[in-house]
Amino acid sequence: MPVIILGIESSCDETAASVCVDGKILSNIIASQTVHEQYGGVVPELASRAHMQNIVPVVDQAIRKAGVDMHALNAIAFTSAPGLIGSLLVGSQFGKSLGLALNIPVIAVHHMQAHVLANLIGDPAPEFPFLCLTVSGGHTQIVLCESIDNLSVIGETIDDAAGEAFDKSAKILGLPYPGGPLIDKHARGGNPKRFSFPEPQIPSLDFSFSGLKTSILYFLRDELQRDPEFLKTNLADICASIQERIVSILLKKLKKAAGQTRITDLCIAGGVSANSGLRTAFTEMGKQEGWRTFIPSFEYCTDNAAMIAVTGYYRFLKGEFDQLNVKVSARAEWK
Ligand code: KG4
Ligand code: ZN
Repeated sequence: MPVIILGIESSCDETAASVCVDGKILSNIIASQTVHEQYGGVVPELASRAHMQNIVPVVDQAIRKAGVDMHALNAIAFTSAPGLIGSLLVGSQFGKSLGLALNIPVIAVHHMQAHVLANLIGDPAPEFPFLCLTVSGGHTQIVLCESIDNLSVIGETIDDAAGEAFDKSAKILGLPYPGGPLIDKHARGGNPKRFSFPEPQIPSLDFSFSGLKTSILYFLRDELQRDPEFLKTNLADICASIQERIVSILLKKLKKAAGQTRITDLCIAGGVSANSGLRTAFTEMGKQEGWRTFIPSFEYCTDNAAMIAVTGYYRFLKGEFDQLNVKVSARAEWK
């Protein structure tokens, strides 16, 4: 009998559901919330309300698209941490209620672990042990993955996350939120070597991005004093140079981690792994270093429920289920 898992993701501003059969994704439905754009960031209360509106149709669509009978589901996996509490509550309560109604187990999934395990959706997939650079709006981590349930963070940001570095830089440039994808877009026509932003000097595997933000702020202030048209006429080169620096900070530490662990299967994951500069530079570095490199397809990089469903699938195989009173948590600690 095939193992059929429904995955639900609602940790931030995407309401998502996915059906996974024997580790293969049959549907991956995402309702992105546009209500936040006018506020320049996610408004938690509005996010919860939008999840409430979206959750039933999104799950319904995921099940229909997969062409499975709801009664054939074996388990329901949902994101339980980290995230906005109100948002997490909507997905988890819905998942628990459906699990109760169908009399099937539930599996509470850590969002960041799911980002890492999104790499297992691919074919070929990385083999354990592998390293994963997880880069999202809230996190920047190098994760040592020894087995499905043995993932450990060996490096992380001490201030801003890489996604925040993209979004805050974009904000300084006057681009709307979330600015990461827009920096990527403008960078495509720009010269990445035109401007040089400083690189933090941190000896460990940890990252820092707050200095970059400050240097961009002062750089722009000075240039605009000289030439008020500077931003308009140089946007592509500025974006390309910012992207170049963020990518080089990330890959330098990943290379160091690979050297220290002697691991040669390397992955990237999380929203920032959708960045074209990072994807190209990571693949190039892999060729030079003799790594096998893995990048999830775009739809599995940013927040999605397929990564929750596939994590649920591997947990199901191990018989690791949660009680219906399992809690949600805003905190990122790994269980
Ligand atoms: O993983 P994700 O979808 O949500 C979180 O769990 O945070 O990541 C969202 C982050 C945002 O900061 C967004 O600007 C960034 O990923 N992002 C990108 C790109 N696509 C998404 N950053 C740079 N280039 C992109 N193409
Ligand atoms: Zn995420």
